[in-house]
Amino acid sequence: MKKALIKRAAAVLASAALLPSAVTAYADTPVLMGDINGDGKVNISDAVLLGAYIHGRTQFTPEQFAQADINNDDSADSLDLAAMKFIVIANLGRMPGGTWIASDDAAARYFYFNGGEGTEDGDCFTFDYGDTSEEARVSWLNSKAFNIIWSDGRLETMRYYGDKPINYDDLLTGQWTGSGTVNRVYDIKGVNGSYLDTDTNRSTSFMYEKNGNDLYFRSGAEDDATHAVINPVDSFHIDLTWDDGTSERLTKHDIKQINGITYVNGILIANKTYDLPSTYNPGGILPEAQAAFNEMKAAAARDGLNLWICSGFRSYNYQRDLYNSYVNRDGKAKADTYSARPGHSEHQTGLAMDINMAGDAFNNTREAKWLAEHCDEYGFILRYPQGKQDITGYKYESWHVRYLGKPLAAEVTDSGLTLEEFLCIDSVYKY
Ligand code: DAL
Ligand code: ZN
Repeated sequence: MKKALIKRAAAVLASAALLPSAVTAYADTPVLMGDINGDGKVNISDAVLLGAYIHGRTQFTPEQFAQADINNDDSADSLDLAAMKFIVIANLGRMPGGTWIASDDAAARYFYFNGGEGTEDGDCFTFDYGDTSEEARVSWLNSKAFNIIWSDGRLETMRYYGDKPINYDDLLTGQWTGSGTVNRVYDIKGVNGSYLDTDTNRSTSFMYEKNGNDLYFRSGAEDDATHAVINPVDSFHIDLTWDDGTSERLTKHDIKQINGITYVNGILIANKTYDLPSTYNPGGILPEAQAAFNEMKAAAARDGLNLWICSGFRSYNYQRDLYNSYVNRDGKAKADTYSARPGHSEHQTGLAMDINMAGDAFNNTREAKWLAEHCDEYGFILRYPQGKQDITGYKYESWHVRYLGKPLAAEVTDSGLTLEEFLCIDSVYKY
């Protein structure tokens, strides 16, 4: 009996495929095919399930399989998914459940439908808002997108996001630098975004759905999402592995200028690229950094070592005089390898300090080794490591530490990267 019904459905579907007007007739047949989740409706949720099955991300019970095998060839595959799109379109007599997003910009409006909030009559949708309702004209672009003209004449494109409400805490909003198989710069607002492929200089806009460690990514009017597995690395890094085997590391890259001071992901930055206003003067080492140093000093003392700050805060004018004296002594090119120009010194931030002795004689001392091994436990990083002069802009300084706070200092140290690499920024004078 069941088999006979299935056969009939397949026959109806075949004619629907040939003759679009028959799609509506199909919706009226009593046979429900494709209701994989058994909720009495055939809608995008079922298509998503079938897609997941095809990609090996879920398994079906025999009942679900029977619903999914629409063309009755004992396989639930992409032919059935194609067939299901006809059924879904045929069943658009009610607003499909799930989250729909109108427009592509930061001010996107999100609609979450449980199903049944709207009714469709031809291309006319009636949205029920409790005590009021609004009529709108709808034209479907594909099963995951439609254009809607509201009663006031505004046109918006609504795109399907997923079958659940958006988890706002789980968004990737912000700027990211993606490097790996491809090199991209991402700008993400809510669940919409765009990226610039920096190898080809081509820009692409997209929508994504993040569900735990799964990322579903749609660009253009494509129906099928590209899938990546997300591996969070640390506060500012995410690894994405796409199903085709390509991978990308995203580095959070939110750069803000506030009163002339540059913050990257909220971290105050002073280097050769980013300078501080000459008026910026916190008045000394900042209390939090000083307290962290005191804690570090006490720990070193327990190991029989004496740490002290030989140079802490330096004002703009002090740094100017210092830098000029080095230029007079060694020439500009050489001075630039070890001394910052005024406005560019981390010492002006109140967050950097030189420990014991600012010179190569400190290298390889017991104190220098202790500092390299333990400073992150107190919230500091060695800012200018050996062999990274091309990246930091400065030769190795075993004595210069920068306060970042304990969690971040540990992350940067564990990454083995300089602060510039960790944040995807450079350190190069522009003058
Ligand atoms: N010695 C470091 C680079 C400074 O001058 O700030
Ligand atoms: Zn220093």
